[in-house]
Amino acid sequence: MSSPTTVRTRVAIIGAGPAGLLLSHLLAESGIESIVIDQRTREDIEHTIRAGILEQGTVELLDGLGEHSRARTVGQRHDGIELRFEGEGHRIDFADLVGRGVWLYPQHEVLKDLIAARLAGGQDLRFEVTADHVEGETTDRPSVHATTADGEQLIIEADFVVGADGSRSVAREVVSGRRTGHFREYPFAWFGILCDAPPSADELIYSNSPDGFALISQRSPDVQRMYFQCDPDVDPNSFSEEQLWDELQVRVPGHELKRGPIFQRDVLRFRSFVASELRKGRVALVGDAAHTVPPTGAKGMNLAAADVSVLHKALRSLLLENDESGVDAYAETALKRIWKGQQFSYWMTSMLHVAPTADDFDRLRQRGELRTVVESRAGQTYLAEAYTGWPLA
Ligand code: DHB
Repeated sequence: MSSPTTVRTRVAIIGAGPAGLLLSHLLAESGIESIVIDQRTREDIEHTIRAGILEQGTVELLDGLGEHSRARTVGQRHDGIELRFEGEGHRIDFADLVGRGVWLYPQHEVLKDLIAARLAGGQDLRFEVTADHVEGETTDRPSVHATTADGEQLIIEADFVVGADGSRSVAREVVSGRRTGHFREYPFAWFGILCDAPPSADELIYSNSPDGFALISQRSPDVQRMYFQCDPDVDPNSFSEEQLWDELQVRVPGHELKRGPIFQRDVLRFRSFVASELRKGRVALVGDAAHTVPPTGAKGMNLAAADVSVLHKALRSLLLENDESGVDAYAETALKRIWKGQQFSYWMTSMLHVAPTADDFDRLRQRGELRTVVESRAGQTYLAEAYTGWPLA
């Protein structure tokens, strides 16, 4: 075996998802060099279907990409959502309640924008490079040991290492141990579809029904994204298209869905997780490496962007001014928002889904909870504030 190649940079970032790429962009704006690696191909990263809602603060961070960010031009601003239960819709008017909005702009489009912007900016961004382990976390020379697609060993020596490497994070091993943290499992999953059809509504519909939850989302005038609550062990190919439409429609009583050919189907498992530690010495975790949320309310990528915004400032102080206070405070600062995001995602999930073990008490209490939200300005305002995103630190 040939001897490893060693490269040196200021910040080694594992993972070219939204968190890693956004961090490399913010660091570059501050004049701090980084190397980003990811085990996936660019094609894979740019085409994996994920959620579609950006908080206002996330869009504002992406504005820094200049013309590369298409969130405001291709994405659509949404000023509200509909909460539906007992066959009736109730609009939550974000603009009126909190003067903020969200953008419907899919994560893989955000990734295309970030990759284009980073490559145009001369970023050292390496695809198909797999991080094997991280070393030296308690020294001022931590390093990432990786393998390239050709099987070559690569060592990246840095002043700081960031694990933006998703829920199966390798960096987490040295920060908190791979499996230590706070977990919650859920007894259901989402069946997601993409279809060729006109929109069934102008805004997103979050619908609770006796048959479970459905989310009616969109992608474009001709392509729609929808989800319905299902058993986590369901085989995505066990339904005909007509059965899928019937499953969706029964969960949105009183609102007729516009049907069309379904060209993609997937089952999304639910989990809540927060790692026990977010930083050890000179290695920190951001995004899904640090935490995951259930998808209801689309907080995943937005929490990642918020982590990055905190860590970027901390790294600027450390690397430009030799001031360690921001890095020391990173976990505590980031965790405040992470747990608010966990609470919101858990709350939206439990308020809207029907647990397999739910009895009449649970179902009736749930309707009381939904009424508490839609029949009170205070209730609506909590939802609007959380959904559009608390201001970034
Ligand atoms: C989408 C996904 C979500 O989890 C959500 O809460 C809203 C929208 C989406 O993929 O469009």
